[in-house]
Amino acid sequence: MNIAQALQYYGVPDSFERRECAWLLEYILGINHLTLKYKSDQSLTADQEQQFLQAIERLKQGEPLAYVIGEQDFWSLTLKVTPATLIPRPDTEILVEHALVLIQPSQDLQVLDLGTGSGAIALSIAKERQLVNIIATDFSIEALKIAQQNALLNQIGNVQFLQGSWYQALESGQRFDVIVSNPPYIDEQDQHLIDLTHEPITALTAKNNGMADLKVIIGQAPQWLKPDGWLLVEHGYNQAQAVQQLFVQAGFSDVKTVKDYGGNDRVTLGRI
Ligand SMILES: C[S@@+](CC[C@H](N)C(=O)[O-])C[C@H]1O[C@@H](n2cnc3c(N)ncnc32)[C@H](O)[C@@H]1O
Repeated sequence: MNIAQALQYYGVPDSFERRECAWLLEYILGINHLTLKYKSDQSLTADQEQQFLQAIERLKQGEPLAYVIGEQDFWSLTLKVTPATLIPRPDTEILVEHALVLIQPSQDLQVLDLGTGSGAIALSIAKERQLVNIIATDFSIEALKIAQQNALLNQIGNVQFLQGSWYQALESGQRFDVIVSNPPYIDEQDQHLIDLTHEPITALTAKNNGMADLKVIIGQAPQWLKPDGWLLVEHGYNQAQAVQQLFVQAGFSDVKTVKDYGGNDRVTLGRI
């Protein structure tokens, strides 16, 4: 099988499946999109062909490409992902972008990332702001193991990983300049869950219309923030109003919501 044949192996022209086929080949052959095009008559080795065909079978079963190849690009990093971790989404880069605005490169601030998963948010901030100290927590030990591996793979040393449910992972008396979180926020009855069956349900859904974890994180944040500290949370496109209310009830000021790249309300932030 050559590259041109492999490119047509899965899906119909211009479909998402065809694009996945190309990304998969780029990954297996270790080449970029342009090289893939101009070397279209190059044959796959027997090993490459076997790897390709096995991967296509997994894609046909509906497994996300990130799990099939075991990695996902996020911000400036390539992160290892497994079914123990959520696959980091481009929308979450908005949260990173706004956190970096609040953290100057010369500041040695204390930052907390709650529900770190693959480590996407914590590691992206840590890479850009090498003076900060970040604590990244998750209640999933399996996810934390992957996050730790991602810190090593990306040579990032200023993140400490702790296991526990939200703030329970911390020692009393700890205080942070910035708290960030992308918690589970999908309503348990949401129809979109049918497309997300491969990702851990505990990373996706929350009780109380998806608001239960956001309520804990926002409500308790003032106890863990230094004066003038900031909280930034990701949430659903239709949760901005309810999230803003929780911020105001908890005593935050300068509360605002920012949109993701698709124009949907996605991240709310406020200062205590
Ligand atoms: C939406 S995922 C976000 C993962 C990662 N921060 C990202 O943006 O890609 C939510 C994460 O919160 C974790 N989580 C869920 N409930 C938790 C709890 N009670 N305490 C700590 N972490 C929790 C999940 O294991 C998952 O890794």
